Amino acid sequence: MKAAIYRNYGGPEVVRIEDTPLPEPGPGEILVKVAHGSVTTADWRLRAAAFPGILAVPGRLMFGLRRPRAAVLGSEFAGHVAALGEGVTGFAEGQAVFGFVMLGAHAEYVVVKADGAVLPVPEGLALEEAAALPFGGLSALVFLRDFAEVKPGQKVLVIGASGGVGAYAVQIARAMGAEVTGVASAAREGFVRGLGAEAFVDYRSQSLRTLGARFDAVIDTVGAVGFAEAKAVLKPRGVFVPLNFGPKEMGQALWTRVFGGRRVRLGVSGDTKADLGVLARWVEEGRLRPVIDRRFPLAGIREAYALVETRHRQGAVLLDMAA
Ligand SMILES: NC(=O)c1ccc[n+]([C@@H]2O[C@H](COP(=O)([O-])OP(=O)(O)OC[C@H]3O[C@@H](n4cnc5c(N)ncnc54)[C@H](OP(=O)(O)O)[C@@H]3O)[C@@H](O)[C@H]2O)c1
Repeated sequence: MKAAIYRNYGGPEVVRIEDTPLPEPGPGEILVKVAHGSVTTADWRLRAAAFPGILAVPGRLMFGLRRPRAAVLGSEFAGHVAALGEGVTGFAEGQAVFGFVMLGAHAEYVVVKADGAVLPVPEGLALEEAAALPFGGLSALVFLRDFAEVKPGQKVLVIGASGGVGAYAVQIARAMGAEVTGVASAAREGFVRGLGAEAFVDYRSQSLRTLGARFDAVIDTVGAVGFAEAKAVLKPRGVFVPLNFGPKEMGQALWTRVFGGRRVRLGVSGDTKADLGVLARWVEEGRLRPVIDRRFPLAGIREAYALVETRHRQGAVLLDMAA
């Protein structure tokens, strides 16, 4: 099968399309023939060893000190079940499925755990739409629900509201009953409001400080603001959730946990079947829709990476395996 292989950390040029052996599903695993994958900010960080802040050390220990341990990146996917490993029930060969794996989806086939984040494609959703859902959707769900603990009626500020995670965070905060203000550049206003934001801020022409202390939660998907700036727009018990963080934010999280006031909450996103099911249900109920920026053939993966690295994408950047 064809796969996007990288053997050294570096720019998009380290990725090459090569023929590799077809993986085999072990007990409890499924082999999926991938129709569509995507390139995410996580793939870019792993490819370039661009781990934010203090994560540089654990990142390299986990994924390879001098060079990457795994050769194929790629987390979200949609495709068809090609083979079932021993003991797998609940899936059938040929069934359309979508999901999220740590690594390996930048390939024509990927092996996933049957009890992991993989489910049948929701009714009425095209395969390419399903492939655009897991990364942004799962991240946004976990950060809003588990770390920001958003409640109905609360006011949420989403910084990076049109991006890979932000485009889902706006919709999911709305689905959770919150009132959303989105932050992106002026050209994205109509798009972000269309996702459900009641208000919009163009970060290039308006300082966030002018908004006043009225938010229960600030979600920064970009790394654009620090706690000082977030504090200026948070209510007295409001919470700041930066998706990228270093030692400074870790200290602030500890400090605010002990001494109270406006809080910093940190974490990493999850990838459970149950949470993927929440996203699928919201899609079926019309409360969440996948957002696709551009599509590239697998052979165009370097261009896909280049777009993701601009930090100005609008939703998911897809890979079409058959193209
Ligand atoms: N901790 C975890 O477990 C976890 C999980 C998932 C993701 N992450 C991290 O979270 C981050 C989110 O990734 P993503 O894929 O959503 O990023 P992304 O797609 O690159 O974000 C793009 C968004 O940011 C906006 N933006 C760019 N520059 C800005 C600025 N200076 N101020 C405000 N907004 C700005 C863009 O708007 P315009 O296009 O209009 O400029 C667009 O809305 C990544 O760094 C990723 O590593 C962490």
